[in-house]
Amino acid sequence: MIDTISAMATSNSGGERKSSSSSSSSSSLPIGFFLSVLLPISIAVGVVLYRLDPFDPAPFPEHEFFQEAGAVAQPRRVNGRMMQGAEFVGNGQLRLPEDIVYDPSLGVLYTGCADGWINRVTVNESASDSAVEKWVNTGGRPLGLALNHQNHELIVADAVKGLLKITKDKEVILLSDEAEGQKFGLTDGVDVAKDGTIYFTDASSKYGLENHLRDSCESRPYGRLLSFDPTTGLTKVLRRRLYFPNGVAVSPDQTSVIFCETPLKRCRRYRMEGGDGNGTIERFIDNLPGLPDNVHYDGEGHYWIAIFTSFPPYASKLMKYRLVRKIMKIAERHTGRLIDVLKKDGGAVAVDLEGNPSFHFYDSAALSITSGVKIADHLYLGSVSYQHIIRVNLARLSAS
Ligand SMILES: *[C@@H]1O[C@H](CO)[C@@H](O)[C@H](O)[C@H]1NC(C)=O
Ligand SMILES: *[C@@H]1O[C@H](CO)[C@@H](O)[C@H](O)[C@H]1NC(C)=O
Repeated sequence: MIDTISAMATSNSGGERKSSSSSSSSSSLPIGFFLSVLLPISIAVGVVLYRLDPFDPAPFPEHEFFQEAGAVAQPRRVNGRMMQGAEFVGNGQLRLPEDIVYDPSLGVLYTGCADGWINRVTVNESASDSAVEKWVNTGGRPLGLALNHQNHELIVADAVKGLLKITKDKEVILLSDEAEGQKFGLTDGVDVAKDGTIYFTDASSKYGLENHLRDSCESRPYGRLLSFDPTTGLTKVLRRRLYFPNGVAVSPDQTSVIFCETPLKRCRRYRMEGGDGNGTIERFIDNLPGLPDNVHYDGEGHYWIAIFTSFPPYASKLMKYRLVRKIMKIAERHTGRLIDVLKKDGGAVAVDLEGNPSFHFYDSAALSITSGVKIADHLYLGSVSYQHIIRVNLARLSAS
């Protein structure tokens, strides 16, 4: 089937190339052959593939996507050359480090990698002095990370295994992998409140890590926001029917949880109210300049929302068509990628406690940024495109 697609591509480009040189009579036979035989066959095969494919994208959820349509959020400071002067941490030793969490008591950060390792990295004055220690392998794909600062346990949203905790003695314990009888498909973001309650997301109960791009193509809300109470061991569904909910951050006053919905380019606030799991959801920030991933509170008045890539308005417009999303999904199955516009640039947006954007740092040389954690004057950025963590100097970025 891959051959069919590339045959289509080849015959198309062949057709174009030939038509520009069609004045040459010696090549008229092959052009005729391409145009009259190969091209129609390729198109016919493509149509059959399309018809046979059972994939059924939902009508675009316009009520969700455009209910507060407006201009892209305008931060006070924007710097689109974030990578100038950037440093690499753990160069070559970290396989696609997705999320990052800092433990100030040990002066180390933890990052979850594609080979299942949670690596422990020392935070040093000079980025090149950082030492990487392979700490624990979950046997899955660790994504969201959070520290319980009371007992120093590391809480992990593992895309494959579910919600895990890792003790100081490196023991890996499964806390939860289902709720209301439904297994998690892609445990994604996590944070821990001061009372020990864990807030986390299952981005898609239908599509696992391998197929997560298809979730955006289908555009149905298979995600859930959940909580786990360590004293009772109970997992509670706080909100169901969410569109790929991703990063989670508990507010510093412990009354709400910020969570990001990647394809909707927004983060919302879940207010806990009374703690009976019957909270309310309200607007926090809409129209982010790209697709949000993890979110971390920096302890100094800002949430740092990682922007996987910018998502230009024309891409949003195209996504409205079910036909486009179905073709994208078929192409994704054959090529393993979505469309190239998705890999454009990445960065991070800092928003204050009320959801007002303060900073936006990004760069076309920073792909697939999945987390941003502020440690002193630096922002440490995780990504699923690199073998290192990117470190940028915030004082320098803010000044330029
Ligand atoms: C880097 O930091 C670690 C942990 O604080 C420390 O043990 C190590 O000596 C530091 N390395 C250098 C070269 O400073
Ligand atoms: C939330 O609580 C109110 C009052 O107890 C109740 O009427 C309502 O059904 C609850 N909603 C959910 C989603 O449980």
